[in-house]
Amino acid sequence: MHELEKQISDLEGRALRAIEAVALTDPEGLEKVEATRLAFIGQKGELTTILRALNSLDKTDRPRVGQLANIVKQKVEGALKEKHTALYEQGLSSRLAGDAIDVTLPGSRIASGHIHPLTQLIEEINTIFFSMGFSVAEGPEVETDYYNFDALNTPANHPARDEQDTFYTNIGQSVLLRSQTSNVQIRVMEKHKPPLRIISPGRVYRNEEINARKYPLFHQVEGLLIDRDVTFGQLKGTLEAFIRALFKKPLQIRFRPDFFPFTEPSAELDSQCPFCSGKGCRTCGNRGWLELLGCGMVDPNVLKGVGIDPEEFSGFAFGMGLERLAMLKYDINDIRHFYTNDLRFLEQF
Ligand code: DAH
Repeated sequence: MHELEKQISDLEGRALRAIEAVALTDPEGLEKVEATRLAFIGQKGELTTILRALNSLDKTDRPRVGQLANIVKQKVEGALKEKHTALYEQGLSSRLAGDAIDVTLPGSRIASGHIHPLTQLIEEINTIFFSMGFSVAEGPEVETDYYNFDALNTPANHPARDEQDTFYTNIGQSVLLRSQTSNVQIRVMEKHKPPLRIISPGRVYRNEEINARKYPLFHQVEGLLIDRDVTFGQLKGTLEAFIRALFKKPLQIRFRPDFFPFTEPSAELDSQCPFCSGKGCRTCGNRGWLELLGCGMVDPNVLKGVGIDPEEFSGFAFGMGLERLAMLKYDINDIRHFYTNDLRFLEQF
């Protein structure tokens, strides 16, 4: 037997023993198998070194030794593969055993989120108006003063602009954070021909000092209906139906004259206090009535501005503050609760 053949057989023995020696329970078993492969039959392993001498062999010996080397390499590879599979399966089954579920254990409670009370109220209001044929429209919160004021019959220097302490941006003199959802009225009327029936819930911003009643960010729901021969009676009927559905009981409503630049006539709508049915309680400050929203008949100037003929069409609009409504409905005494994300508050809804 040639010296090289001896070396190869010796390598075979040592490699197989090394593989044999890796215990199935060894957590580093897979790494050890790989190290064994590299050491014996890897590209820079022992077998490669031995085979370098093959060239110096006699031509008659070369095929025989070469063949032996191949056989040994295959045997070692086979043993490595077997060990690898065994180790892998062992690892898998012990992991599975570790993961096994004891179905008799009590389950752990999955914490579920809550829909924010304001979102709940928006959804409720949407549903009520859907049933009366309205759909939802949206408009931008970063707006120009044209949509927030001018087109709503509130030109520059109009005193109504001062009542809403508006946040202006540094994008330009005329770009602001909308102070009311009324901008959506204009955007809808510009795009769509009457008849129109939309509501638009959304965020509005005003530069207010924060206290229990005021917050610089709040929500409004705007409403707009445009059609032929729309009357104040229809406005009243619509809002009466809305308030009955919202408070789930028939309540008297009353209008008080008010002023908004974009409606004529304009009114403030009060409803009988749903908590004391008008007798007077803490929620209504003993008045028996709650101020709920502003409304009116759309000013002909507004219609003209968006290219709707006020001789042919008329309409009504309304707008309400959501936080105020939610505070009344759920008896919440501080607007800041809506924005502090305190779970003790949120979990009550
Ligand atoms: N935009 C008004 C405000 O923020 C609320 C309002 C009043 C909206 C009358 C209307 C309306 O659509 O007709 O105070």
